[in-house]
Amino acid sequence: MDMAEISETFRQTFALPDLDATARLGDGIARGLKAGDAVALWGGLGAGKTTLARAILRALGVMEDVPSPTFTIVQSYDTTRLVVSHYDLYRIKSPREMQELGFDDALLDGAALVEWPERAPEILPTDALHVRLALTDGARTARVTGPARWEGLHV
Ligand SMILES: Nc1ncnc2c1ncn2[C@@H]1O[C@H](COP(=O)(O)OP(=O)(O)OP(=O)(O)O)[C@@H](O)[C@H]1O
Ligand SMILES: [Mg+2]
Repeated sequence: MDMAEISETFRQTFALPDLDATARLGDGIARGLKAGDAVALWGGLGAGKTTLARAILRALGVMEDVPSPTFTIVQSYDTTRLVVSHYDLYRIKSPREMQELGFDDALLDGAALVEWPERAPEILPTDALHVRLALTDGARTARVTGPARWEGLHV
């Protein structure tokens, strides 16, 4: 059994018909989030990646504005439980930039939410939670895979 199989044993597809559903999924992810965790938010333009990242941060008590970190690439939040760094990798030129952006350090004592993970997939820890957001024929879904400890995640 390879690492990918070991670390991806939870699998569930959730319907996200409205923003409330995304908020509930954000609550669930926030509850399970601990230091060292990365949440990879996959999905094309407008799939709902930033909306879910915002929902996770709101659930962790972040009151301030949560902008899309398109230009800053990373924005960190000192939440009630742990520091959470919100990354948007759309504009990075090489996965090596993630070192300068402090990705490894961010995971030492905090968690990371990563939009456009396909720009640097190799930096993700093997136990990352993967959320694949899709908008197909007007229906939004989130396909979630990750380690077994995420079993019980619901919306
Ligand atoms: N579950 C949902 N139900 C209805 N609308 C949603 C839902 N999730 C997101 N949206 C809406 O879809 C739009 C795009 O969402 P968002 O900005 O989160 O996408 P994104 O994946 O971050 O896009 P980009 O790649 O451009 O950054 C927003 O107007 C948002 O309110
Ligand atoms: Mg976005």
